[in-house]
This record gives sequence, C-alpha cells and structure tokens, in this order.
Amino acid sequence: MDSSNFGRVFSVFLFFFIAPSLAQKSFRPKALVVPIKKDPSTLQYVTELNQRTPLVPVKLVLDIGGQFLWVDCERNYVSSTYRHARCHSAECSLVGDKGCSSCNSAPRPDCNNNTCSVFPHNTVAHITTIGELTQDVVSVQSTNGFNPGRNVTVPRFLFSCAPTFLLQGLAKGVSGMAGLGRTKISLPSQFASAFSFHRKFAVCLSSSTGVAFFGDGPYAFLLNVDASKFLSYTPLLMNPVSAAGTYSQGERSVEYFIGVKSIRVAEKVVPVNTSLLPIKTKISSVNPYTVLEASIFKAVTEAFVKASAGWNITRVGSVAPFEACFSNENMGSTRLGVSVPAIELVLQNKNTVWSIYGANSMVSVSDKVMCLGFVNGGLNPTTSIVIGGYQLENNLLQFDLATSTLGFSSLLFGRQTSCANFNFTSAF
Ligand SMILES: *[C@@H]1O[C@H](CO)[C@@H](O)[C@H](O)[C@H]1NC(C)=O
Ligand SMILES: *[C@@H]1O[C@H](CO)[C@@H](O)[C@H](O)[C@H]1NC(C)=O
Ligand SMILES: *[C@@H]1O[C@H](CO)[C@@H](O)[C@H](O)[C@H]1NC(C)=O
Ligand SMILES: *[C@@H]1O[C@H](CO)[C@@H](O)[C@H](O)[C@H]1NC(C)=O
Ligand SMILES: *[C@@H]1O[C@H](CO)[C@@H](O)[C@H](O)[C@H]1NC(C)=O
Repeated sequence: MDSSNFGRVFSVFLFFFIAPSLAQKSFRPKALVVPIKKDPSTLQYVTELNQRTPLVPVKLVLDIGGQFLWVDCERNYVSSTYRHARCHSAECSLVGDKGCSSCNSAPRPDCNNNTCSVFPHNTVAHITTIGELTQDVVSVQSTNGFNPGRNVTVPRFLFSCAPTFLLQGLAKGVSGMAGLGRTKISLPSQFASAFSFHRKFAVCLSSSTGVAFFGDGPYAFLLNVDASKFLSYTPLLMNPVSAAGTYSQGERSVEYFIGVKSIRVAEKVVPVNTSLLPIKTKISSVNPYTVLEASIFKAVTEAFVKASAGWNITRVGSVAPFEACFSNENMGSTRLGVSVPAIELVLQNKNTVWSIYGANSMVSVSDKVMCLGFVNGGLNPTTSIVIGGYQLENNLLQFDLATSTLGFSSLLFGRQTSCANFNFTSAF
C-alpha cells in the first residue's frame, strides 16, 4: 500500500493503525527499559539504544524535554535499512511538514532528495540545524517492570539525521540526543504507538546508572520496591511559548512544566515576587543543577543560609557555580542525605509538595565543604525555575502524556531504595 496516500486519507488514524502493525507481531511488550548512565565529566545523562542493520549500540544524551531522537549520520552511519521520509508523506505530517529539502550529492542517510526537513536541537550547546527526517530499525529491551526481557524492534523508527558538528558539548562517545518531549515522534510517543501501550514513561536518574521505562509500571527497584506505588501527582502545564531552537509563532513548547505556588525553607514560606506566581517550573535532564531566576535565587539562598545558621551549620566562601557553601562539620547524616533544612516546592495545594532533602540539595565540592546545589539564572530567564538533574536523582518521575500529569515519588532513599537499584540482569 502507498503509505502516503493512505496517510492523507486516514491521517488521524494512521498513528494508531499502521505503527502497531510494523512492530513484531509475535510478542507484545508491556513496557520497555533502558539504562541511563551519568557522564562524570559533563554531568550529562547518557542512555543507549540499538539502531540500524546490523544493529549497533548508539549512545545518546537523554533530554526529557527534547523533540525527538537525533543522530549524527555524517560519521559512521552504516545501515542497510535506513530510508528517508518522503515529502508530504504521513511520516512528514507527524512533524508538521515544515518543508521539503533536496541534496546535491550521492544519496547518504543525511543526503536525500524529496525529504522533509526537521530542526534537531542540541539543548546543551544551544545549537540547532536543519536535518532530514529518516527511519531505521531501533531495538530496545522489553521489561515486566522487574528485569529486562527480550529485545523488541521498531522497524521504522523516525529520527532526525544531523551533521557531526551538532554533537558539540555532548559527552564523549555520544552520537546524538534522545528527546522524550511532547511531540508525535518523541521516543515515548513512537514506542507507545508501536506497541500500543499507555502513553506514559518514567525516568529515574542516578549519579551512577539509573533507568527509564516506556509504558506503565510496575517500576521495581531492589529489594522488591514498586516505586510506581509512591507517586504524588501534579498537572503538567502547557507552556505557551516554545523553547525549541526554531519554531513557528504560537507553537507550544514540547518541554514539561509544573506549577509551583510557593517555596518553603525549613517550613517557612520564602517571599517571592507574586507576579511570578504560580512559578512555571521546567523539568530538565540537561541542566546539571536547578536554576532559579535571580530574585527567587536570592530569596531561597537567604532563607537557607539563615535556617542553616540556626542548625549551627557554618557558612564558608562560595565555590563556583554555587553561592551558598558550608562546612560539613556540623551536618549530621540521615537516610535522606546530610541533615540540612528541607526545601519544599508547594504545588497545586498545600498537601502536594515536592521536597528537596540533603541528598538532592547539597553538593560535595571538597572533603570539608558542601554547597547548596542551585545556580543563579539571572534576571528575566525564559523559565523562572528549571529543576535540574542533581535535584531529580533518586526521584522517580512518571510522565503521563494522555492525562498531562506528572507523578513524582520524592527521594527513594526514604523507601530504602534508589534509582541505581533496577535489576538489569535479564530474567532469561
Ligand atoms: C537529487 O536530484 C538532483 C537533480 O536531479 C541530482 O543531481 C542529485 O544527485 C540527487 N540527489 C540525491 C541524493 O539523490
Ligand atoms: C538486547 O539488547 C541489549 C541491550 O541493548 C544488548 O546488550 C543485547 O546484546 C541484546 N540482545 C540480543 C539478543 O540482541
Ligand atoms: C516583580 O516582577 C515583575 C515582573 O518580572 C517586575 O516587573 C516587578 O518589578 C517585580 N517587583 C518587585 C517588587 O521586585
Ligand atoms: C555548634 O558548633 C560549634 C563549632 O563546631 C560547637 O562547638 C558547638 O558545640 C555547636 N553547638 C551546638 C548547639 O550544637
Ligand atoms: C536480579 O534478577 C535475576 C534474574 O531474575 C535474579 O536471578 C537475581 O537474583 C536478581 N538480583 C537480586 C539482587 O535480586
């Protein structure tokens, strides 16, 4: 069947109809699992998929708010199964058919005629370029939520080919970025339609090896903790302004935002400029630390310094990029990390609170000094609060795209487990 004609007529149904038929028929997974390793030199979170024919492992920087998968096709891309998406095809309509491109040399994965353009974005180095929409085989491990199971394949997974220079600033050995954002071709959307599972995914970052799941729980961590049972829920907000590299006017951001009604430090509300409320707060895996708009940063830092003094914790000189640093001499240690005043983000009501304890707030910069791991975002940043990777570690986050809801677990140490505790030993 000519899929482009089919797509024009049945474009609404196409995504639900064709994609599952492309997936392996013999076995339908309930969910998929991939490891996420933290790169110690860039602090980026790196995941891995198998792609192409023959399959090769491809390392990718994880971008929770990213648009889609993009891969360097200029260097070392060898595959017998790649094909470009033809202009005005059903595949191109999934990315809004933003333009047709051609290429004046021999055909390669990144050089085709009559193909639709996409704009892959390196959200670490803030660079964007024009790329081609391409398809190839992608293979990942299925899971029952407890262990990885057999590998499953999506034969025509859509991604963007990008030139090598787009890798600037990314961790060594990486060949692109894996975007989990709110688009029709992000990883969660394509996996959900390929295997007809719920449009949900979960991310659990770790300073060593964390995990991401596509599909619904259980999400089990040793010893026998199903962290999907501990979730509190808050609405995911639509940000009216796109933060992508290139966008049409009025296009929504594909990133994930929640609404913060107030911030408390040691149970006291921190005064913030009420015109900023509710504070649009972005969840980001590409910012290593939480970034606060200048006035919020100042207010939170002052409140934290004051409360810490009350706990007999001694402030010491700043260590960049942090401002508030302390001697760890008088910090007790608890299951939730060093004992410091808790920082709480109060969400839609006063009972829905995202709490940040020592393990997520304090960064060790030397044997004796720990700093509050927040950085100053300056005046008028695009987003007033960006919750960064360090603050997300060991918290399970579940994104439900169908209901626009975020489930968050709070620090799993409180449940005597961590994001590094998924059992990656295959069950067979
Ligand atoms: C695209 O078409 C032009 C003109 O027909 C041709 O010279 C060129 O080689 C083609 N490029 C590819 C990648 O097929
Ligand atoms: C399945 O995928 C895993 C993880 O990517 C890989 O290590 C393993 O070799 C694959 N197994 C098969 C049989 O292809
Ligand atoms: C509060 O924020 C608004 C918008 O950023 C700004 O115009 C105003 O001056 C701020 N007010 C105070 C008291 O800082
Ligand atoms: C506060 O810290 C100082 C210096 O470490 C110590 O001598 C003192 O006993 C502490 N006071 C309390 C109340 O913990
Ligand atoms: C991890 O899973 C494997 C396979 O099911 C199992 O044999 C092993 O005991 C598990 N490890 C732990 C620590 O439970």
